[in-house]
Amino acid sequence: MKHDKKSTMDLARRYAEQGDPNGWFEEFYARAEGNVEDIYWADLKVNPLLAAWLEGHPRPAGAAAAVIGCGLGDDAEALASRGYRVTAFDISASAIAMCRDRFPDSRVDYRVADLFALPAEWRQGFDLVYECNTIQILRGADRGRALHAMVDLVAPGGRILVSCRSRYEGEDLDAFPLALDRPEIDGFVRAGLVEESFLAYDDDQEPPVPHFFGVYRRPAPSP
Ligand SMILES: C[S@@+](CC[C@H](N)C(=O)[O-])C[C@H]1O[C@@H](n2cnc3c(N)ncnc32)[C@H](O)[C@@H]1O
Repeated sequence: MKHDKKSTMDLARRYAEQGDPNGWFEEFYARAEGNVEDIYWADLKVNPLLAAWLEGHPRPAGAAAAVIGCGLGDDAEALASRGYRVTAFDISASAIAMCRDRFPDSRVDYRVADLFALPAEWRQGFDLVYECNTIQILRGADRGRALHAMVDLVAPGGRILVSCRSRYEGEDLDAFPLALDRPEIDGFVRAGLVEESFLAYDDDQEPPVPHFFGVYRRPAPSP
């Protein structure tokens, strides 16, 4: 069955009313029955901001990367093609199955995993963590919980790259997805990371959609 924004909102609302606010992602992907075109939020190509960042930053030897809520896997594949050892996870088993079908020879370790219940050994285990559009699709207190779980993955001296839709504070509070405002994305700094770069820009859709692309680093311990 084809998804659109209205049917997606209805699906998310139905699961929330049943007390399972994050259960709808699996049904969303499963309904696509392997048809990538039905996953309307997937660009089916690497995020150009991620590609540009990778171009400008040589990979440290042996570096490990994690991709959060990896969807259909294009960003994870881009990181693997730059030589990172990539773990890419999503709460939806059907999404992960689609990644494995799309990239059968991939070096990415695709995993079904819930950001809110990650393996303990992943804690501060990744030199580069990539988050694109996961927080914005969550509601309420899960957004802050998600941010802290993401920060928890970043190794000492490592970075997290955060790509998301943006909005002004107090604006569009009923929107779905709910874009991040500046105080919310600054939560990465409040959680102990250092902002290394920050870009607010409009994308190339018609009409353009405002976005943030932030890079945050966990300070390395002093020698
Ligand atoms: C809006 S999509 C973005 C997908 C992909 N990052 C992209 O940019 O195309 C959000 C993704 O987060 C996943 N997700 C939502 N909650 C999650 C959780 N608790 N743990 C892991 N993945 C989650 C969803 O299944 C979905 O694939």
